Amino acid sequence: MKNIVLFASGGGSNAERIMQYFTGSNEVTVAALFSNNPAAGALSIAERYMVPIVVFNKEQLTAGGVLLKVQGFNPSLLVLAGFLWKLPEAFVAAFPNKIINIHPALLPKYGGKGMYGINVHRAVFENKDAESGITVHYVNEHYDEGAVIAQHSVPVDGCRTPEAIALKVQVLEHEYFPKVIADVLNISI
Ligand code: GRF
Repeated sequence: MKNIVLFASGGGSNAERIMQYFTGSNEVTVAALFSNNPAAGALSIAERYMVPIVVFNKEQLTAGGVLLKVQGFNPSLLVLAGFLWKLPEAFVAAFPNKIINIHPALLPKYGGKGMYGINVHRAVFENKDAESGITVHYVNEHYDEGAVIAQHSVPVDGCRTPEAIALKVQVLEHEYFPKVIADVLNISI
């Protein structure tokens, strides 16, 4: 059995899709959901799926307590599903090529510090890009700079607001992120 540990800071729609996708799998378990935000919607979703939750603060992350708790779940893969903090170097080093993230744009465009949520889609909109999409990538100690695993794009030239772009990108997230995770784990659902 391969264990996934999720990290989420917000609403958790991607975390929910992942929990849904692997429900009933005899190869993969979503072992836990970690969050830095005690009010994260992702936490109540995890409880609904009976996935153990761990809420932590910055000190617990930087001092190594979170690292020990994650190791306790014996993860094959750590999946950042809307996690807003940069992981400490020591944390990333403890899980070489085992941490992946989804970014709601076609990296290297629109990545880096501050480029999250509607900020990304607003930049795409203001630049009048014809397309946007998602990037799933390995995580290193810099925001959004790890090796790309998969990208999927969608036309957005007809979108009249950044929110409309966000909705089209979210469809890709929900369709592809669980499948990319299954591919990374070399399992077929
Ligand atoms: C998504 O847009 C994802 O690409 C980004 O953070 C957002 C999380 O949304 N990394 P949700 O909390 O999964 O709905």
